[in-house]
Amino acid sequence: MKTSSAHLAERLLRWYRNDRRDLPWRGTTDPYRIWVSEIMLQQTRVQTVITYYDRFLSRFPDIESLAAARLEDVLANWAGLGYYRRARQMHQAARSVVREHGGCWPTTSREMRELPGIGPYTAAAVASIAFDEACVALDGNAFRVLSRLADERRVLDRADPRRSLRRIGQEMIEAVPPGSRGDFTQALMELGATVCIPRAPRCLVCPCAESCKGLAAGSAPALPSKGVRPPLRKAEISICLAVREDRFLVCRRPASAPVMPGFWELLTVEGPADGLCRAGGLRSADLKPAGSFSHGITGTSYACRVYRASARGEPGEGFSWMSLEEMARVPLTTISRKALRVANGEG
Ligand code: ADE
Repeated sequence: MKTSSAHLAERLLRWYRNDRRDLPWRGTTDPYRIWVSEIMLQQTRVQTVITYYDRFLSRFPDIESLAAARLEDVLANWAGLGYYRRARQMHQAARSVVREHGGCWPTTSREMRELPGIGPYTAAAVASIAFDEACVALDGNAFRVLSRLADERRVLDRADPRRSLRRIGQEMIEAVPPGSRGDFTQALMELGATVCIPRAPRCLVCPCAESCKGLAAGSAPALPSKGVRPPLRKAEISICLAVREDRFLVCRRPASAPVMPGFWELLTVEGPADGLCRAGGLRSADLKPAGSFSHGITGTSYACRVYRASARGEPGEGFSWMSLEEMARVPLTTISRKALRVANGEG
C-alpha cells in the first residue's frame, strides 16, 4: 500500500509535468548548469535570472572555463545580479573542482557541501536534479509549501520546526521512484512559486489541496508565521557624475571593504552632498541635482541622490577617469549603475 507521502508526491509530480514553466535550466542534467541556475536563483527572481543565465553560460560554458577565468571577468558577468559573494564563491568552487576533483563535479550532496558557497539547499537541489539523489532541497518556497501542508504554526527561524518540516519533505522525496527525484525537487519549488504563493495561495488549483492541513484549518494564507523583524535603518548616499571630456571620476573600493570589495564606483559618499565636494575636490555650486532612487542593502534603506558636475582641478588620491565603455568592462557597483541610469532619465 502506498503511504500518504507517496500519494502526495505522485500528485505533485503529475501536476509539475503538466503545468511547469519552461525555464532555461530545465531539461538539462549537467550539474554545472544546474549549479549555476541554483546559485543565481538564491537571491534573485526567476525573471531576472533568465536574462543573465544564457549569457553567463556562453561566456563560461563549463567548469574549466569558469575556473580559468579572472575573478574580475566573473564579477563583470555577474553585474546586475547582486550579492556578489555568490560569484566569488562560485569562482573558488570551480577552481576547487578542477584542482581537487580533476574537473569532475562531485556526485553526492555530501561532497558538494564541501565546496565554497554550497550549503545544504544547493547541494540537495543539484544532487537530486543532476544525480537523482533522494535528498530534499528546502528553499523559502519549499518551506512555505511544507509549513502549510503540515499546518506548522511555529516561526521558522527556530531549529525545531525547520527540522520537523525537513523530516516531512525528506519522507516525501524518499517515496518518489528513482528517476523522478529531480522533478520532485523542482515541483516543490514550482508549487511555491506559482500556486502556494505568499499571502494569497491559489488553493483551488493546488494538486495538494486535499491533504493540506493548513487549508483545512484556514491558516494557510498566514503561514509560515512571521517573527518580529527589526525596523529598516534609514540612511542617505550622495553620488556624483563628475565629468571631464566624456570621462567620469571613479575610484576603486578597497579589497577590505565590507560591501563590494574591489568594485569600481562613481564619486560616492554616505551622507549629504557636501561630502562629495570634500572627496572629489568639487565646489558645491558645481553640483546639479540629476535625480534620486532608493537602494536596500541588508537591513538599511538608502535614499540615494544623484548629482552631475563638470570637474575642474585635479581629484584626490585614488581617483581616476573612465569612459562609459571602460566602465562596462569592469565590475561597477549597483549603486553607480543605478545612478548612471537615473541621470540618463532611464530611472
Ligand atoms: N528557485 C530555486 N531553484 C529553482 C528552480 N530550479 N526553478 C525555479 N525556481 C527556482
